[in-house]
Amino acid sequence: MSEQFAVPRSVEWEDTSVKILNQQKLPEKTEYLHLTTKEDIYDAIKTLKVRGAPAIGITAAFGLALSAQSIETEDVSEFLREVRNIKDELNEARPTAVNLSWALKRLVKSAEGAKSVNEAKTDLVHEAIQIQIEDEETCRQIGQNALQLFKSGDNIMTICNAGSIATSRYGTALSPFYLAKTKDLELHIYACETRPVLQGARLTAWELMQGGIDVTLITDSMAAHTMKEKNISAVIVGADRIAKNGDTANKIGTYGLAILAKAFQIPFFVAAPLSTFDPSISTGDDIPIEERDPDEVRQIAGTQIAPKEVPVFNPAFDVTPHHLISGIITEKGIITDRFEEEIDALFSSAKTAKVL
Ligand code: MRU
Repeated sequence: MSEQFAVPRSVEWEDTSVKILNQQKLPEKTEYLHLTTKEDIYDAIKTLKVRGAPAIGITAAFGLALSAQSIETEDVSEFLREVRNIKDELNEARPTAVNLSWALKRLVKSAEGAKSVNEAKTDLVHEAIQIQIEDEETCRQIGQNALQLFKSGDNIMTICNAGSIATSRYGTALSPFYLAKTKDLELHIYACETRPVLQGARLTAWELMQGGIDVTLITDSMAAHTMKEKNISAVIVGADRIAKNGDTANKIGTYGLAILAKAFQIPFFVAAPLSTFDPSISTGDDIPIEERDPDEVRQIAGTQIAPKEVPVFNPAFDVTPHHLISGIITEKGIITDRFEEEIDALFSSAKTAKVL
């Protein structure tokens, strides 16, 4: 499957730089950037050149490993102090996707047992590469677990881009569609354009077409009509942070789709790796919601579409309460009810298996 996978990787480790697919330029241009400093990495995450919760985590991990190579000290404690400072800086790039802090914390931990600075530097690189490798397998497994929810001929709706370029490979919400293709299961995807910055139109439509998946683009305001007219059998979305009770933050517009799905009695699924769960928060009320530049709303692709000074509210994410979610698909299986208990059990077994 991997060899036939036509979608380019979003992030790659290159020893002296971190190569990213510039998602700001898609679909017009397939441009790669070679990032060499922590400032480059921070900027790429902040300005959505690389985006999607797992891809943000992987990029930050690579960025931390890379920046650590130029720390000049032989003292392990001093080295770790500087590594923690860089970690804290990169962690500020975006607040909602917990994969960012999850990956950075995991990286720092990997170097804490090192006996020398050289060993610590090597540990950081190995751990960052390991996070990327694991994410690919995790996403493939999410897709595999999700396949049982769909049958040939289904029309499925999604929002934003929770695809291959938002992860190491395959994606979360889009992963089952790539796997379905290898099994001759015909699924048709309706992708919401995802205002304000159009991840659905620019990225999901492009990515699925690259992968040879059947996709139709709609504007966000067409979701209800499309559910009614096009026999939508399920909605599947990604996630940026999931609280202990199953409340899920994802791209703005997701909550609205969940309410619509409930009204039409369409199952609403969230697909996410365990690295997107935040066991430190009880409910979605505690999830920090990023608010972005008002010009993202006043403009489309640099063209002014609203009065320059009009006040704007631009939250990048919303929180879907767990009671609207039919199931959360993880690499370890699907949680369909008793979210709090099931999430708890998932974390206890993952800890025992040293997955987290
Ligand atoms: O602002 P973005 O583009 O980073 O938002 C991304 C999303 O909301 C995705 O659905 C989520 O990160 C899951 S990616 C597998």
